[in-house]
Amino acid sequence: MPDRIDLRSDTVTMPVPPMLEAMVAADLGDDVLDDDSSVKVLEAEAAAVTGKEAALFLPSGTMANLVALLTHCGRGDEAIVGSEAHILHHEGIGAPALGGISLRTVANDKNGHIDADQVRSSIREAIPGTAEGIPRTALVCLENTQNRCGGAAIPAAEMRDIAEVAHNAGASVHVDGARIFNAAVALETDAATLLENADSASFCFSKGLGAPVGSVLTGSVEFIDRARPIRRQVGGGMRQSGILAAAAQYALEHHVERLKDDHVNARRLADGLVSISGIKLAVSDIATNMVFFEPEGIQGSELQASLAERGVLCSGTPNRIRMVTHLDVSARQIEEAIEVVREVVATLANG
Ligand SMILES: Cc1ncc(COP(=O)(O)O)c(C=O)c1O
Repeated sequence: MPDRIDLRSDTVTMPVPPMLEAMVAADLGDDVLDDDSSVKVLEAEAAAVTGKEAALFLPSGTMANLVALLTHCGRGDEAIVGSEAHILHHEGIGAPALGGISLRTVANDKNGHIDADQVRSSIREAIPGTAEGIPRTALVCLENTQNRCGGAAIPAAEMRDIAEVAHNAGASVHVDGARIFNAAVALETDAATLLENADSASFCFSKGLGAPVGSVLTGSVEFIDRARPIRRQVGGGMRQSGILAAAAQYALEHHVERLKDDHVNARRLADGLVSISGIKLAVSDIATNMVFFEPEGIQGSELQASLAERGVLCSGTPNRIRMVTHLDVSARQIEEAIEVVREVVATLANG
């Protein structure tokens, strides 16, 4: 049996020794009192790499998105999100529950794309003086990479077209860029280009970048000045958070380029899995570090449980299993995982 191969998510990585050293050496202060220089350095760097004026360090991607929605929208406003958006499905309906913001969906196709014309026809402009109660669409949210659509990387042109539609209708644009560097690496561009027309963006240090904790929200100075007290309001003000910012800074400096290794490993994994009878998957859909597949003739939950017994961990639903490659899984472990899946599928199919 191989050592545990954890493919549940790219959030499972452990900080590497030099990252831990950077954390120990970090210059610290009380960030709520605007006194932590490590956080300030990180925020400046995060703003620069996303092509924005300013940034705000937060504990999680969920909180970064929540603060973005609360900053862009007032109570009773509407935000458009993709039908497969993480904000819609996995963030505890924070924006509606805490901000009185209604979420309206436009379809993501299976590769994560959103049609700009559909966004155009979904945006609603509140008409002053009318009593019909039509909500105002204050915000359009995009996600890149698109997690539930296979980790799809959405090209800059599509992001630009949708942003133009939103802006023409008076709505702002927020990008949930939890894995924006995976998108940039896959599309051979940079994060700033992908986010060029966004009014705000969030990204995570604790996914493919391999830091233990942390996300940022970036935007104009004016936007971040409004977001900062909202972060405090939702409990996201942190004190000596430079210890976390130092890990994030290390991640930004050392773990962006290597994301391409994760993408190669995802392809390797998909190539291996597709050769197993009883596994349905489209190799051409693998864009970044995620591999989704459907087990055929076997219960997915049974497959997941049997794989876990053999040390291969994955996530997903009974019908759609997800494996994610990351910093802590090597090419050799990918080959091992494929062999374990082959054996387990054969056993279950015959049993
Ligand atoms: C696309 C996307 N956005 C936001 C998040 C939320 O990040 P966190 O788990 O740090 O709250 C995730 C987490 O997996 C994600 O995949």
